[in-house]
Amino acid sequence: MKRVLFVCLGNICRSPAGEGVLKHLVQQQNLTNEISVSSCGIGDWHIGSYPDARMAKAAQSRGFILSSRAQLFDISFFKDFDLILAADHEVLHHLHQFARTPEEKAKLHLINDFSSLYKGQDVPDPYYKGDIGFELVMDMLEDSCQGILNYFLKQKAQDK
Ligand code: 4NP
Repeated sequence: MKRVLFVCLGNICRSPAGEGVLKHLVQQQNLTNEISVSSCGIGDWHIGSYPDARMAKAAQSRGFILSSRAQLFDISFFKDFDLILAADHEVLHHLHQFARTPEEKAKLHLINDFSSLYKGQDVPDPYYKGDIGFELVMDMLEDSCQGILNYFLKQKAQDK
């Protein structure tokens, strides 16, 4: 089982949307027994909350249902997950502070490192922006999640 964790600040916008998009692609490919997906935040303001209504609406209009509840990043997640994907450089920097070994550091990447169109870019925090922010988040996540899926499919083909 490959285990993917999306991480943002509040775990109510970007990372739950990433979780929803990748879960959808995994289900489409009948890979639910091989790839598991979760998300969390590095801030504790929204623990237990469902995704932001604006994010959920932007996702739903593209066919993705967001159903996660916000949880806080825990250092134990370094052993629980294989790929830990930060929404932006600030979150990535924060996670790097917690990584204790080269193996743990190697699990850390930007979400958009897997995107062909937005490689290396932040998924910008949409919380205080208008709808265009949420649409851009969805554009980026759809592209990067396809990239993540392709990465695992390629790995699987090589393992054969
Ligand atoms: P997210 O967006 O990190 O994509 O979930 C945010 C949600 C809430 C806050 C910041 C960003 N906040 O400051 O409460």
